Amino acid sequence: MNINAAIEYSRNNQQRFLSQLKNFIKIPSISSSSKNLIDIKNCAKFVYDDLIDIGFNNVEIIETKKHPIVYGELINSPILPTILIYGHYDVQPINPLNLWTSPPFEATIRNGRLYGRGTVDDKGQVHLHLKAIESWIKACGKLPVNIKFIIEGEEEIGSENLDPFIKNNKKKLASDIIIISDTSMIKKGFPSITYGLRGISYFQINVKGTSKDLHSGMYGGSVKNPINALVEILSKLRNSNGKILIPNFYDKVRKIARSEKKAFLELPFDELEFQKTIQAPKLFKEKGYSILESLWCRPSLDINGIWGGFIEEGSKTVIPAEAHAKVSLRLVPDQTPNEIEDLFETYIKEISPNEIEVNIERMHGGNPFISDISHPSFKAASIALEKGFGKKAVFIREGGSIPIVNNMCKELDLNCLLIGFGLPGENAHAPDEWLDLDNYRLGIESAIYLYKGLSEIKF
Ligand code: BES
Ligand code: MN
Ligand code: MN
Repeated sequence: MNINAAIEYSRNNQQRFLSQLKNFIKIPSISSSSKNLIDIKNCAKFVYDDLIDIGFNNVEIIETKKHPIVYGELINSPILPTILIYGHYDVQPINPLNLWTSPPFEATIRNGRLYGRGTVDDKGQVHLHLKAIESWIKACGKLPVNIKFIIEGEEEIGSENLDPFIKNNKKKLASDIIIISDTSMIKKGFPSITYGLRGISYFQINVKGTSKDLHSGMYGGSVKNPINALVEILSKLRNSNGKILIPNFYDKVRKIARSEKKAFLELPFDELEFQKTIQAPKLFKEKGYSILESLWCRPSLDINGIWGGFIEEGSKTVIPAEAHAKVSLRLVPDQTPNEIEDLFETYIKEISPNEIEVNIERMHGGNPFISDISHPSFKAASIALEKGFGKKAVFIREGGSIPIVNNMCKELDLNCLLIGFGLPGENAHAPDEWLDLDNYRLGIESAIYLYKGLSEIKF
């Protein structure tokens, strides 16, 4: 089997791959929106069809309580290692629409980038694996490994239905290593292996006062305003140094090892450059930690949205009946969403003014993740990336969350390689999301090398 033939095939078919990827992007598979249910179904079918075309066996669309899971496998021989590849075909909403330079579901190329919702998160990164596999098959007849491919439609809403599917299908999913491309590189030209992700706990806080809005002159000063109350509550969540004030919140936070702090300093990361990329007037981080340490190894708390009262043009003297906020926390090893949810709820109840009613909705949660980089697959991945990009790979952690990763590794007793091809500033979840086309191409080539590299490991 000549790997160079697979590489060459991928180069010769680049334009066709790209036009297929565009068709993938054009399907508005927004998982959080009930208006897009048909699109979700069509998108699952798109993935299904491509798996069939490539030559996968046992390809199926598995219905769940919400969005379908797509699964396919390529089993060549029981003596070869089996790789489980995971990705998601669902995407985030597109608002604010007016800030997009070209329509989000048009898939437009500008300056070596493919623009559109889902280009980098995660359709482009799922696609590059599909095309790497196709290249192996078309050029060499088969792969040097067995592949199991699982692509879900609920990652952006917490992977609620994938969790039980994995628990109930351990045999079907049995493999030797998991590969996920749904993360980023630290900088263009620096292929990166992510060995840590933060977890998440997401809440909505609802504050209720009177049954109707009131005239603020006739009643102001005689009742508690729910927005005032909500702001009081929210202001007690963090202090001005960025410390989270929930009692016992830091109890399980793992200390950052000195060796890790040192390794971070050697990465091609510059705080000023980071600031420029996000166009921030100034950076804000937890006191006593560097940006990378804060972002990767320390928990954080953000108010994601806040609403209530009068927000239209002009002014209206009113005491609103209710107020709401969405709040999320990023968690780090060894915190767990369940414990954090309890601590959060207890604290909010304790600090809530007693003149109003507070109700807390627990939305989705996901465990933090850290992997053991001494596993031989990391060495193989590092070599494959170096072959693909012509540059030594770096080891990083990231601040984002992929809720299923920790549970999937635990349930299946596997290690996971997070090898992402996103870039800083790529606007995931924001207007003008883009995928770097060099990374798409080199990502395919790296994946071709990676399968080969993993085929030589004794698991
Ligand atoms: N691909 C991202 C996660 C990510 C991005 C990890 C960049 C590391 C670097 C994923 O699709 C995502 O957006 N996850 C959500 C999870 C949530 C909605 C449950 C997140 O992190 O906000
Ligand atoms: Mn993603
Ligand atoms: Mn995402």
